[in-house]
Amino acid sequence: MINRRKASIAVGGIILVGLAVGFLAFPVTDVPSCMEQVRQGFRPLAADRAQRFLGKVQPFTGECRGPERVQQASATPWVDWSNYWATGDASSRAGLSIIPRLGRDGRGIDGALLDLEYQRIELIRFNLFDNYTFEEYLNGRGGRSGAALTTWSAMRLPPDHPDYQAVGGAGEQACQGELIRHRTLTGICNDVFNPLMGSSSTLFARNVQFEQTFPDLGLDPLTKARHGDRIGLLRPDPQVISRVLFTREQSEPASCNQGQGLPGSSASAHCDYQPAPFFNVLAAFWIQFMTHDWFSHLAEGRNHAEQTPVGCALASANGLERPLTSPEIAVLGCRPDDRIDRALIADDVPAPAFRGADGASRFTRAPKTTRNHVTAWWDASQIYGYDGISAQRVKRDPANPAKLLMQPRGAARGAGDRYGYLPLLAATDPMNPQWQGQEAVAFPDNWSIGMSFYHNLFVREHNVFVDEFRKQAERTPDADSGLRNPASPQQVIAYRDVTPEELFQAARLVVAAEIAKIHTIEWTTQLLYDEVLYRGMNANWHGLFRDKDNLKRITGRVTDRLGESSSADDRNLWYTVFASGSGIFGLGSRKQERRGPFGLLPGEDVWSLAKLEDVNGGVNHFGSPFNFPEEFVTVYRLHPLVPDLIDVRDYREPNEIRQKVPVIETFRAKATNAVSDVGLANWALSMGRQRLGLLTLQNHPLFLQNLPIPRLGSATNQIDVAALDILRDRERGVPRFNEFRRQYGLRQLTSFDDFIDQRPSVSPETRAHQEKLVAALRQVYGQHRCDASVVITAAQLDAAGAPINDCLGHPDGTMVDNVEDVDAVVGWLAESTRPHGFAISETQFTVFILNASRRLFSDRFFTSSFRPEFYTQFGVDWVNHNGPVAMMERGRPNGHREEVSPLKRVLLRTMPELAEELEHVVNVFDPWARDRGEYYSIDWRPRPGAENDPAFAPRR
Ligand code: HEM
Repeated sequence: MINRRKASIAVGGIILVGLAVGFLAFPVTDVPSCMEQVRQGFRPLAADRAQRFLGKVQPFTGECRGPERVQQASATPWVDWSNYWATGDASSRAGLSIIPRLGRDGRGIDGALLDLEYQRIELIRFNLFDNYTFEEYLNGRGGRSGAALTTWSAMRLPPDHPDYQAVGGAGEQACQGELIRHRTLTGICNDVFNPLMGSSSTLFARNVQFEQTFPDLGLDPLTKARHGDRIGLLRPDPQVISRVLFTREQSEPASCNQGQGLPGSSASAHCDYQPAPFFNVLAAFWIQFMTHDWFSHLAEGRNHAEQTPVGCALASANGLERPLTSPEIAVLGCRPDDRIDRALIADDVPAPAFRGADGASRFTRAPKTTRNHVTAWWDASQIYGYDGISAQRVKRDPANPAKLLMQPRGAARGAGDRYGYLPLLAATDPMNPQWQGQEAVAFPDNWSIGMSFYHNLFVREHNVFVDEFRKQAERTPDADSGLRNPASPQQVIAYRDVTPEELFQAARLVVAAEIAKIHTIEWTTQLLYDEVLYRGMNANWHGLFRDKDNLKRITGRVTDRLGESSSADDRNLWYTVFASGSGIFGLGSRKQERRGPFGLLPGEDVWSLAKLEDVNGGVNHFGSPFNFPEEFVTVYRLHPLVPDLIDVRDYREPNEIRQKVPVIETFRAKATNAVSDVGLANWALSMGRQRLGLLTLQNHPLFLQNLPIPRLGSATNQIDVAALDILRDRERGVPRFNEFRRQYGLRQLTSFDDFIDQRPSVSPETRAHQEKLVAALRQVYGQHRCDASVVITAAQLDAAGAPINDCLGHPDGTMVDNVEDVDAVVGWLAESTRPHGFAISETQFTVFILNASRRLFSDRFFTSSFRPEFYTQFGVDWVNHNGPVAMMERGRPNGHREEVSPLKRVLLRTMPELAEELEHVVNVFDPWARDRGEYYSIDWRPRPGAENDPAFAPRR
């Protein structure tokens, strides 16, 4: 449909003319390299996985987009864009330019965005491996390329499904009627023509070649060659990894007390942790709250009935293993008697093989598969439920069934407490015994003050929406609510006629969309705190042309047209490029009549609820049904974010820390009284002001290394969650770190020394600390004598275009680090070279680039069904304006005019007592008393009025 060559020439021509004008207006020394960049045109997209971009640009491109440090960094494994102009704090900016887009800063930012788009396109092209449909993806069907397929027989409802007949039974299946009106409990019928997709208990997908999963099974010659016989479920030992590489060192062990704090939650307790200056504890629990919506390997908080050891058995020294001695166990503080229930596995018979079009034999699926026990959709299922059992825990308000039940409880008496707190689980509710006494919610596992906070908050928000909607209905009872019933799509439903059930379901849609918006443009822009990601994430939601209506409309229409094409390049590659212009959210939610040249002039909106192809028209799965990949779960193992102690404050004296409450003292049912006695607003303030833990080695919470789990009935009844993170990834076959990076199109490491940050800005103390960590990695993972004749991967070639071998570029027969064996979690925690303001590593980020976009692209309710017919007009406006009416933030934070953030609006509505404190807050996830300074400063300095806050006092 689009001729790639012509399009490249056109875009290249525009840039060339622009650059010429720009340079005439403002001559700069980097003209020759920029001209060379334009002359060479866009880098071709890799046709083969071994030719991938790797985030590395040509020297002239680097010179055009950044200062000298791009060249200095070109030999490192890390992506180049983080060294471009204006991608860091104020010191990375070159300054004003007459034509900003063409000046250095503009070239830096736009160059970085272009690099990220290349990565996304390549990730879509090379990293989709679905456990149900891979054979069709690779070989195509009916003459159509697999990457352009839109329906799959594996996504049909099976005959024993209660809705089998309703969707068409044995004939062509398509959801309709009540099944398409709102988000269904189990997530079926989000995609109208693939009813099963993303529903509860379907298989997790993968982002890496199936043959490279489960490396410890040695099923593939390459995995065998890569690791020799060095790795296994318990090798290297998970608890040794935890104690040597994950433990937080304490300067005052007695006042930390293994994360248990001091009696009475005394404020004189102290636990050291490495904090991140620009991200707060609210952000830590936010992401746990999100993961409970997206995925769960556990069924009702349980794994397999059988138990397995978790290590604390083997020492490794210089690559040799031997049993740990008792004194060594005492020094490490690990527990040989810990046991955990084995991971649940769906298929564990060998995967059938098939022959690809290239003649090679491949697995149809991973050697073992696992199920996602919640819906994969971003549907707030942790609140509303994901199957029949979880739904029984969700309590509707009998007095007003459009609402969720909230009750008066606890000692807090703030203005927001009138909205109440969640009721407790009833004795008749289905529950795991350890949940007894907790609040009644759909997903009750790993409950603490953080989960209690967010569940209470969003149930309040649900109820506030219902109240406001009813007020609107009182004002305009006969007006059209916008809502429609697919059974009679033409019939107007007036505000007064919206039933409690219809309103409940519309409120669920609104709350889920608000959560997705908060996550995309508020949480993520603070997690990745720089201008590139601010623009990138806002582009995902609103589009790069947010304020340029015409361009936004045109790119939106081009995207819709590309989505109708049968060419894989149009549907995937060009689709994502144009979607950046219009934004993913709302794609296909208008269907304009085609007028004018190429049908691009605006016509009437002819989107119709009566046409299922319109209802579903905005989704794109890129040829592979949507579910999260196993590797996505891995990069969300973010336990270091959690501090051991929470600094508890009162909103009437926000600068004072009154107590230090151990998180473990809020575990499970203990959260339930804590939330309502201290009060939701005080928890918001306390977690809003406190910094979360950096995602780095030796920064796991002590309490999670010693977590009581009485249901295990083991000798210790405890588990080291940090060690379990390692074990679970091995049980589920996640490739180890270096191959993980190669599979995702990132450059490999060649020794542990590559983990050391080589940038000149790094202080000698920090470098010395990193060198110590490298020594610890070497101690745990060891070294071996390498053999250059052994090829270890097919995912990439080396710089000379030759196969990568066991020596990773070192001389044959020398001792090399076992960098191939490093567990994925350990590797990304060890990455110290990160883009400015990144709370996560570039490896984790690359997994997000693909999957954070896909969960929007694939969801009808965020694309073509983001319409009043489903959300009501009141609901559509609420999502778009972050509440009933739009509000603008004061000033220009980081140079942007901004709406008051969506989460700040939720807090203001549900906890009005925080209004004064929130005056100073721009992004709810930035520590509330921090002075944000200028352009993406990450300094830890108090804002005016917070100078007395002890959090800013020097560390003792
Ligand atoms: C009080 C805080 C927390 C507690 C007590 C806790 C506890 C646990 C436990 C016991 C498991 C292991 C389940 C198993 O495989 O048997 C687990 C898994 C996990 N946790 Fe946490 N966690 C906490 C905070 C967090 C946070 C802040 C995140 C951030 C995203 C997080 C992300 C995960 C993930 C991704 C898994 C794997 C889930 C799966 O396999 O489906 N946790 N957590």
